Amino acid sequence: MKREKFGSRLGFILISAGCAIGLGNVWRFPYITGEYGGAAFVLIYLFFLLVLGLPIMVMEFSVGRASQKSAALSFDVLEPKGTKWHWYKYGAMAGNYLLMMFYTTIGGWMLLYFFKMIGGQFEGLDAEGVSNAFGELMGQPGLMAVCMIVVVAACFAICNLGLQKGVEKITKVMMGLLFVLMIVLAVRSITLPGAGEGLKFYLLPDFGKIKDAGLTEVVFAAMGQSFFTLSLGIGAIAIFGSYIDRSRSLTGEAVCVTILDTCVALISGLIIFPACFAFGVNPDSGPNLIFITLPNIFNSMSGGRIWGALFFLCMLFAAASTIIAVFENIISFAMDLTGCSRTKAVICNLIAIIVLSLPCLLGFNVLSGVQLLGEGSTILDFEDFLVSNNLLPLGSLIYLLFCTSRYGWGWKNFVSEANSGTGIKFPKWARIYVSYILPLIVLFIFVQGYWSIFH
Ligand code: ALA
Repeated sequence: MKREKFGSRLGFILISAGCAIGLGNVWRFPYITGEYGGAAFVLIYLFFLLVLGLPIMVMEFSVGRASQKSAALSFDVLEPKGTKWHWYKYGAMAGNYLLMMFYTTIGGWMLLYFFKMIGGQFEGLDAEGVSNAFGELMGQPGLMAVCMIVVVAACFAICNLGLQKGVEKITKVMMGLLFVLMIVLAVRSITLPGAGEGLKFYLLPDFGKIKDAGLTEVVFAAMGQSFFTLSLGIGAIAIFGSYIDRSRSLTGEAVCVTILDTCVALISGLIIFPACFAFGVNPDSGPNLIFITLPNIFNSMSGGRIWGALFFLCMLFAAASTIIAVFENIISFAMDLTGCSRTKAVICNLIAIIVLSLPCLLGFNVLSGVQLLGEGSTILDFEDFLVSNNLLPLGSLIYLLFCTSRYGWGWKNFVSEANSGTGIKFPKWARIYVSYILPLIVLFIFVQGYWSIFH
């Protein structure tokens, strides 16, 4: 069967950006920034995006383009005969499924909150009322399941239309709308009376705050976020390399994707911080920020119902762009491994993902006693831990070693693939850095992830 290709370069860049742009940008980035003291953290994060995220993204794209396969077969195609790199296909596939096992539940919350906002359901509620509404939702597995299923079914339906007619066409529109809506929301937030303090907090670096939070912790948070935001290490982004030709070099394309991803993260900070400071509320962490703090702010804002609805629409688009991109991976695993049709892969995975997403949402109610990461933790935390602290760093390490070691695909093959076509080339002087230093940094992040969780 001939592999379908993207219709345009713009399509490739926006779909890859869509895979990267997600809850990590619009939700996790602002709250980690809030937690670690604002602008100084942002600078460290940008540094790691450049030295850590970007080279690994180029490697993933290269593996995808050279093999013309998803992560389920790319190592089989490129590895030297007799080696075992292809074993990582199981890690990559598990990573894509695990990410979706909690992402779809949060996508469902976004959908519900969009409708709640538009329906004016928060109007007249005080802070406690808004907080109770989220608490009540956590106790309604049926409602959460319906929202999750709607999101999953809609995203699979889009994938079922095909790569060009579904994934490319719809994600392009969604990304365009996301950018426009976010800029409108940022302008509204920045022009609120009293927003200046929020801008200062966000944009003026204060390294004293890093000292308060602890430099090591801040640095590791920044590194972890750069993996998560670019969806690196599980082949999720690699697949899009398999849908393009060799007319453009891959470093330039990865730079475009990283810039788009970073813009969305930075703009979402411009929406959240000025609004929080204008209304005198602390930028909270975790789900509270999005589902309690911000609805409260929209409640006290004139026209808050509309602003709130637009905000949750942005959140939904960001989540859906990642879900569609990862579903495309999951569908492609089935097609690559079994040669089945797209529709068959969609139907089987639709059922599988719905079932696999249930533990996460039941973890807030029926299964709330399951606290695998210690008291008070949820199944969502555990699934996030498996992906963010294990598969993303370890998978990135595998891509790094595969592309630089002579026992893997090797430096020469990698550079020749990455540099085919016009555009920015992967610098040859970076060889020592990506072969020896970067793997150590990634290994360190992996160990530190465990250290911080279990101590
Ligand atoms: N890269 C995806 C996100 O940022 C996983 O949400």
